[in-house]
Amino acid sequence: MNTPFRKQLVSLHTWSGLVIGLVLAFLALTAAAFVLRPALQRTVYSHLLTVPACHHRLPLDRLAAEAQAIHQLSSLQAIRVASAETSSVAVQFSDDDSVYLEPCTGAVLGTQNEYGGFFGFFDGLHRFRFIQDGRQIAGTCSAVFLVLLLVGGLILWWPRGGQSLKSAATFNHRLPGSARTISLHKVIGLYTLCVLLIISLTALPLSFQPVRDLIGWVVGSPMVIPPPPFSVFQRGAPRISMQQAWLRSQQAFPDAEWVSIAYPNAPRDPVSMELLERGAPHSEAKSYLYLDAYSGKVLRRAPYATQTPLGRKVYLYLLALHSGLVGGLPYQLLLLVACLGLPVQVYSGLSPYLRRKLRKPAGGAYPVRIARKLSEATGICAFELVDPKGARLPSFSAGSHISVHIRPGLIRQYSLCNDPQETHRYLIGVLLVELSRGGSRAMHGLGEGTLIHISGPRNHFQLVRGARRTLLLAGGIGVTPILSMAEELARTGADFEMHYCTRSPDRTAFLHRIRSSAYGHRVKMHFDDGPAEERLNLQAVLAHPDPDTHVYVCGPKGFMDAATDAARQSRWSEANVHREYFSGRPQAADENVEFDIRIASTGKLIRVAREQSALDALVSAGIAVQSSCAEGVCGTCLTRVLAGDPDHRDLFLTAEERARKDRFLPCCSRSAGGTLVLDL
Ligand code: FES
Repeated sequence: MNTPFRKQLVSLHTWSGLVIGLVLAFLALTAAAFVLRPALQRTVYSHLLTVPACHHRLPLDRLAAEAQAIHQLSSLQAIRVASAETSSVAVQFSDDDSVYLEPCTGAVLGTQNEYGGFFGFFDGLHRFRFIQDGRQIAGTCSAVFLVLLLVGGLILWWPRGGQSLKSAATFNHRLPGSARTISLHKVIGLYTLCVLLIISLTALPLSFQPVRDLIGWVVGSPMVIPPPPFSVFQRGAPRISMQQAWLRSQQAFPDAEWVSIAYPNAPRDPVSMELLERGAPHSEAKSYLYLDAYSGKVLRRAPYATQTPLGRKVYLYLLALHSGLVGGLPYQLLLLVACLGLPVQVYSGLSPYLRRKLRKPAGGAYPVRIARKLSEATGICAFELVDPKGARLPSFSAGSHISVHIRPGLIRQYSLCNDPQETHRYLIGVLLVELSRGGSRAMHGLGEGTLIHISGPRNHFQLVRGARRTLLLAGGIGVTPILSMAEELARTGADFEMHYCTRSPDRTAFLHRIRSSAYGHRVKMHFDDGPAEERLNLQAVLAHPDPDTHVYVCGPKGFMDAATDAARQSRWSEANVHREYFSGRPQAADENVEFDIRIASTGKLIRVAREQSALDALVSAGIAVQSSCAEGVCGTCLTRVLAGDPDHRDLFLTAEERARKDRFLPCCSRSAGGTLVLDL
């Protein structure tokens, strides 16, 4: 499948799940609670439904009167009588309550609402009876779910990249974290697909009239049964009794399992009866009988088998299928398993996504306010950041940097340049870069009072404690971490010397601060447009390597390279020369070797070419990995490594984090040898 299409599909699948996931889980759980109702209700409600066998039943009208006596505020709707001698009689009222009676003694067994009791309660929830048009909502969810199920889930599940059908259909419990959750999601989805499909499809005609009409059109048969015939109204004449109506139903349908006799309301209403005949294909396959309410004459006899239009039969079968009224207990158990599987599906589908989305940026991002923004030099602004509520900020050490989340997806690192003793503010300096990728320009666009998020501080550029002497070399905006080092060294009375190179005084940030500081006399300024003899002579400054002296260099790449070369020529120990990069460790592409990445959740193997980053290879293969700096600085693309030996080339991870070999930054890091298995 081509990658852009797959991306769209993943996105559709995920967002559909996010939007309706909870509703689907709700529908499934409420359905699971009552799906076994047909099999269990005689047991669960035995105190209402089952009575000792008796042969001499009281007339139905007497039973109705007993029920009305205890339920006076509602009108009689219907009486339901089962043919089994051990069944109670239910008298139904207009408020959906039913009073259950012992047919031989007239004893009241109890009252229950249609949506009361354990099964009824969950049935009502499932039908969204607590809101208007709830059935339409449930139906819409089913329709969307159908799209997810067919278009999204199945296509996304389909094995790719050499994965076998068998392994795609097998839950891999050895996978860790999100990969195991995704594997569970796919496998449960696969095994419950058919049943969930039946549930979803059959919910559509229950909820939407157009779908019912479509069924009728397809089978070429009306969906509705003809309206009831009218009684011949005889003014002053009494209606026939319920008992007479029941006896008539016994003659018309001697095999009826049960009959429900509705009370006529209007003068011309017939006595209408719903019946279920023995041998009916399911319990929605009802027959009908209409009697003249005054003479008792049969107006219409409509057995299900011969008088129900085909379209309606199809609809009723779908209804029975949706409700678990066909196939007996085995089918109901299948529905139960699928209903219980659906919330697991929703959880296992959404949790990896949400975990990924809600994962806090490394170091934990928190808000700060830009308290002051000062123009420090041409093209350079200083930003003073404070806690929005005036609280203390996390302490930092000289050489630390923070990650500024300028806007979603745009994260940049800036060194702190104030005194590390200060905890009420962070000070950063930002150079507007002409060929900016957006970061410095966006930063310069922020005004005082703006709230932004930052994470950190982190420090990869620590001062070595106890050095006899320190040499600080700053080029341009690289002065920022060097400044906080100078503050620290000056405060502790350490011996140090600082060299600061810029193009000209008007492009020199923090010039006034340095000149007016207590350590100003230790700082030598070097301007490109100044006298040649005042330019920095790195060979001279680094001419005498000393194991007790540590050198710290920060600045543009040319400056860093020149300082590094000079130190090497003078045979400074690598351990004594410290550098702060603001882009990933330079690495010649021809030093790279190809390697493979395996995606733990799918088993897919991805080849990373020599001239390609692991991040690029992942993205080209349609695997979404968030990234920002693409230089191993911000930590946004941090990815768990389950197996393999990463070759860390970033500036983000600490030495301990690297040593664990359980994570890497695919935007710049590679494999030190062999395949890397990623938790994706
Ligand atoms: S994208 Fe910034 S570290 Fe990889």
